[in-house]
Amino acid sequence: MAVRLGDIAPNFKAQTTTGDIDFHEWMGSDWTILFSHPKDFTPVCTTELGTVAKMKTEFDKRNCKAIALSVDTLKDHHAWIKDINETQNTTVNFPIIADTDKLIADLYDMIHPNALDTLTVRSVFIIGPDKKVKLTLTYPAATGRNFDEILRTIDALQLTSEHMVATPANWTHGEDCIVVPSLSDDEARAKFSKGIVVIKPYLRTTPQPNL
Ligand code: BEZ
Repeated sequence: MAVRLGDIAPNFKAQTTTGDIDFHEWMGSDWTILFSHPKDFTPVCTTELGTVAKMKTEFDKRNCKAIALSVDTLKDHHAWIKDINETQNTTVNFPIIADTDKLIADLYDMIHPNALDTLTVRSVFIIGPDKKVKLTLTYPAATGRNFDEILRTIDALQLTSEHMVATPANWTHGEDCIVVPSLSDDEARAKFSKGIVVIKPYLRTTPQPNL
């Protein structure tokens, strides 16, 4: 069954390029992005993993760890990492899970047989420190993911988990937010010291509260 928003991310034990892990223990109290890719030694995947490696400082700023997965072997992962480092001018600095028996892929419903027979599609799970799934994305093999968008969603998820705001379309860090409907105007004015703008009774904005 698919893993849905709000579910506890299923725990698993795995072999990874940085050693064996128990997923929940490895996550600790950080945010986590678990992302699958179809196959080692393929071009789109090579650029994706290189991109995530280069963005480590941005993930660190957000207390977020990255972990990748495909159904290839550890031996292949290690050989491919050399290619990624060479061609993407970086050093892969996060674990890659070798899910050769597809147990984790099945647990997270990462194999979509009508799209790709036996390989994992490009799934993304962003998981909070409470181990609950906060966001899922699924991309097909031929479309590389936009990891700037993934960082943006982590910003939004972290903000909205701490403040009674939502983020409008295309919001990025620093822009005005939406006051959640459950707050009355008076409650919102008391909560948001920078004030609120009432555009419609159901559409109210406030400057980003944690700046
Ligand atoms: C790729 O990463 O380039 C890729 C992987 C599987 C199918 C198509 C493309």
